[in-house]
Amino acid sequence: MTKRITVPQIMRLKGQRPVVSLTAYTASLAALLDDHVDFLLVGDSMGMVLYGMPNTLSVTVEMMIAHGAAVVRGSKKACVIVDMPFGSYQASSAQAFENAARIMAETGCAGVKLEGGAEMAETISFLVERGIPVLAHVGLLPQHANTVGGFLTQRNEEKILADAHAVTNAGAFAVVIECTEPAISKKISGEIAIPTIGIGAGVDCDGQILVTEDMIGQGTGYVPSFVKRYAEVHEDITRAARDFAEDVMNRRFPAK
Ligand code: KIV
Repeated sequence: MTKRITVPQIMRLKGQRPVVSLTAYTASLAALLDDHVDFLLVGDSMGMVLYGMPNTLSVTVEMMIAHGAAVVRGSKKACVIVDMPFGSYQASSAQAFENAARIMAETGCAGVKLEGGAEMAETISFLVERGIPVLAHVGLLPQHANTVGGFLTQRNEEKILADAHAVTNAGAFAVVIECTEPAISKKISGEIAIPTIGIGAGVDCDGQILVTEDMIGQGTGYVPSFVKRYAEVHEDITRAARDFAEDVMNRRFPAK
């Protein structure tokens, strides 16, 4: 039986080699990515990528549990982390614990991710002290898009640095830094003891994550400028659909 990568193993990668991570929302994609990543993130980006929502705010705990459980079933080796959706952890540490414990119990994941820096530090300690590994998330916080006026690159060095230190001191095992000036991420990565996982935050983070559908060119919507396309899956899918339709129309499928 393959042993899954653990949270402490991911922490120990800092200073050894870059941490590799991608998002996954389904068992089939998780199975394809499993051998190549240290951790799979079941991100609430799923609301936009899979469900066509305009933002991540309508994603529910039930959706995260259904997709988190699918990703755990589809993978054998990767550590699986599940996002806590908007409204499931901000009210109080007790609310966060109840929902995080439910997500862990019902999916079999190894930990949860939640957005926020200094303002979430107390909640992060509460969860970690009670056995729930937390991946923190600073810089651009998609769940705050309404407050800051969109999905904007974050340039307030003092705040992002203070947030990264706060989540580290609170016991987060790693921190995602999203859409931040590379110089800020580099400084944070040099100052804090836990791995920094960058997305649109430059090459000097301790690891990198991308939304898989962006990376493989499956989505047709907006793709952030920092994304590198490693495949153009949408071309294969549209070509296959067109060829299938032509075959059906011309009675070439199914074959005799
Ligand atoms: O929801 C998500 O997929 C994320 C990643 C982009 C880091 O938070």
